[in-house]
Amino acid sequence: MTDAKRQILVTSALPYANGPIHIGHLVEYIQTDIWVRFQKMQGHECYYVCADDAHGTPIMLRAQKEGITPEALIAKTSEEHQTDFKDFAVAFDNYHSTHSDENRDLARSIYKTLEKQGHINKHTIKQAYDPEKEMFLPDRFIRGECPKCGAKDQYGDSCEVCGATYSPTDLKNPVSAVSGATPIEKESEHYFFKLGDFNDMLHEWTRGGHLQAEVTNKLDEWFEAGLQEWDISRDAPYFGFEIPNAPDKYFYVWLDAPMGYLASFKHLCEKSHIDFEAWTKSGSNTEMIHFIGKDIIYFHALFWPAILQGSGYRTPTSIYAHGFLTVDGQKMSKSRGTFITARTYLEHLNPEYLRYYFAAKLGSGVDDIDLNLDDFLLRVNSDLVGKVVNIASRCAGFIKKRFNGALADAIHNQELFDTLTNANSIIADAYEQREYAKAMREIMLLADKANQYIDEQQPWVIAKQEATDSELQAICTMGINCFRLLIIYLKPVLPIMAEKAEAFLNIDALQWQDAKAPLLNHTINPFKPLMTRVEQEHIDAMVEASKDDLSSTETASELTGHLKDNPIADEITIDDFMKVDLRVAKIVKAEHVEGADKLLQLTLDLGGQTRNVFAGIKSAYNPEDLEGKLTVMVANLAPRKMRFGLSEGMVLAAGAGGKDVFVLSPDDGAEPGMRVK
Ligand code: MSP
Ligand code: ZN
Repeated sequence: MTDAKRQILVTSALPYANGPIHIGHLVEYIQTDIWVRFQKMQGHECYYVCADDAHGTPIMLRAQKEGITPEALIAKTSEEHQTDFKDFAVAFDNYHSTHSDENRDLARSIYKTLEKQGHINKHTIKQAYDPEKEMFLPDRFIRGECPKCGAKDQYGDSCEVCGATYSPTDLKNPVSAVSGATPIEKESEHYFFKLGDFNDMLHEWTRGGHLQAEVTNKLDEWFEAGLQEWDISRDAPYFGFEIPNAPDKYFYVWLDAPMGYLASFKHLCEKSHIDFEAWTKSGSNTEMIHFIGKDIIYFHALFWPAILQGSGYRTPTSIYAHGFLTVDGQKMSKSRGTFITARTYLEHLNPEYLRYYFAAKLGSGVDDIDLNLDDFLLRVNSDLVGKVVNIASRCAGFIKKRFNGALADAIHNQELFDTLTNANSIIADAYEQREYAKAMREIMLLADKANQYIDEQQPWVIAKQEATDSELQAICTMGINCFRLLIIYLKPVLPIMAEKAEAFLNIDALQWQDAKAPLLNHTINPFKPLMTRVEQEHIDAMVEASKDDLSSTETASELTGHLKDNPIADEITIDDFMKVDLRVAKIVKAEHVEGADKLLQLTLDLGGQTRNVFAGIKSAYNPEDLEGKLTVMVANLAPRKMRFGLSEGMVLAAGAGGKDVFVLSPDDGAEPGMRVK
């Protein structure tokens, strides 16, 4: 608390503008927001900026698919992102876009400087090209058979089945994911950033205390492999900034994305009269700190410092990488309902539950963190509701009723108060080091001590005795003071609850240094519940709402709602239709599938042939009721391998979903195997 005033510019990675914020992203934004709030509470001059990462092929194609301009798409997404962040109490000082005037100017001027200094090269390279769509294809937009294991429909850079990595030219039977055409190879001139020019500088910089030790070690592997030139250009059509004096060439999205940090800050500087130059030019003694996920270390720890150095800007003070979020021990998954968007979460649960849970799990390393939904409920209820809020609710009523809101004028248990107040430096260190889990542990130990004190003093017993008024007031004042200290310590994590607590305590916004002195001789307001318990049914509802009903891994027949929600699909010809072989089938067996929430396993008789089919109709039928029935199936659908086995066809059903699903049943007289027309 005695540190000189620091000047700190803090960023989180810029989320792509083509998708919603999800709870995985939130690990990072919450981690950063807690750190920034902590610095501000310390009285430092700290700015937290971010922006949408608006450029690149996926965003261009996504806009085309939606039939809108990329500008309209990124404007819409930016609004959604900002609302999500605001509702999670992630408080940026500025939120901008990489598709902004500030960023265009920065990208051009930085590029020109690098070029003038001789750090840009040109080479002609061969790349996959979609002759129908007339565009070069990023690796992710080429699909084909894995050259190693032969798995079908794999991406151009890696196989999801066997894990092999390769170049798109190795794929067998490649097709463009954009048009379906077979890609050809085509030459084009590209611009490259000569990363190798910065080999010595980076070697030193990556060991200069700016990175976590485990990140430095990882980078060593890359140094050993040799620093390659980096391709920073893309051919039109592309959504991005044109390269100066290079017609139809655009900056690759990852070139101007980190510049977006500076562009957002510049935008803030102009609004708030901050000296952008003084903060960002080489030699500046302000701090610049980037929070990022471990997947984007290469861009931030190698390219970015080199580009800054080469163009006369200051290099980052620190890059703090975090791990990835898993839910219940597994990668977030749409079929399991654990790919949870920020919005879906907010529709069911209090944002501060998640802020607290992440804080309770986060350390300073790059380990992945797991959101275990059972643990989440227990932890939040026991720590926040059971321990912290409980202290206030046990004491507030007496103060209000018996003393008209007035706190006593002395501390009842000095030793306990000292324990709590002196813990401030250990907790502050933990926040500073991003050891939030440690900070939360320390805080909860203090909360245990405060509760123990109240248990021993039994204010509810004393309240019934006569002539003990001053003792009752002293005990409850002590309890309220413990609560106040805990709220100061938790405020970076729980800003919304802290604000409610400040209203209850009838005080100004709490700062870290307020932990030094007690609150005495002061009138407080009536207590209102600060946080309610997490309910299992809300978690269940959130998971249910996150399940993707169209996920091919779990739902065989894709059931849909009404016309207004489900517009008629693209027109097909009669020839297309005639390819679908519909047959009457008899359901000879219907069974539950272990581990599947939606599926029933059906054994179908086609009049001689039997088929095994998984159908997503569990919500509407008991298996027993289906056995013996006739239905209609697509008999010539290519078999699909699903998580639970091979599905050899599809059963036709209609309805709005849930209980309202009706398997088609042909009229009497139909027989298994008959063709349906
Ligand atoms: N646009 C780039 C970053 C450019 S920064 C100059 C990008 N965007 S992203 O939307 O894919 O990710 C934004 C941040 O969220 C990244 O730091 C990424 O690591 C983080 N996360 C995305 N999914 C995540 C998890 N499942 N878990 C934890 N962090 C995750 O990368
Ligand atoms: Zn493979």
